[in-house]
Amino acid sequence: MRRIITFGTFDVLHVGHIRILNRARSHGDHLTVGLSSDELNLNKKGRCPVYPYQSRLELLTSLRFVDDVFKEESLELKREYILQHKADVLVMGNDWEGKFDEFKDICDVVYLPRTPSISTTEIIEIIKEVHT
Ligand code: CTP
Repeated sequence: MRRIITFGTFDVLHVGHIRILNRARSHGDHLTVGLSSDELNLNKKGRCPVYPYQSRLELLTSLRFVDDVFKEESLELKREYILQHKADVLVMGNDWEGKFDEFKDICDVVYLPRTPSISTTEIIEIIKEVHT
């Protein structure tokens, strides 16, 4: 059994999210997602998520290629989370290329190409423009 872990906010779920989760799962047999808490997202991106944690959780847990979701409370705890969830592979989008190489002592670290031309930030901007 090869266990995969990935992290993110997955706010305003879009096709880039679906593709990376699906591809992450195909690297093993079990996918755990560390889903950023609302507070963590506020610190990280300077805004509250559009969808609160419970809604993001419900969306992710309904995907057939997501096996488990837990709340990521702190960016400083990645090593602990990887160990706790017994992950063999950490998968991240290549916007994080090289940023998680420090965990190569406890798991494989794989960066997958992002889907071009879509992001939660861009969707929010487009919706704002339409309404101004
Ligand atoms: N991701 C991806 N392709 C995209 C957007 C995101 O593969 N077009 C991946 C990221 O690389 C990350 C995961 O999806 O591994 C979660 O990313 P997240 O930051 O939640 O989504 P973004 O759309 O990038 O959000 P934002 O615009 O707020 O940064």
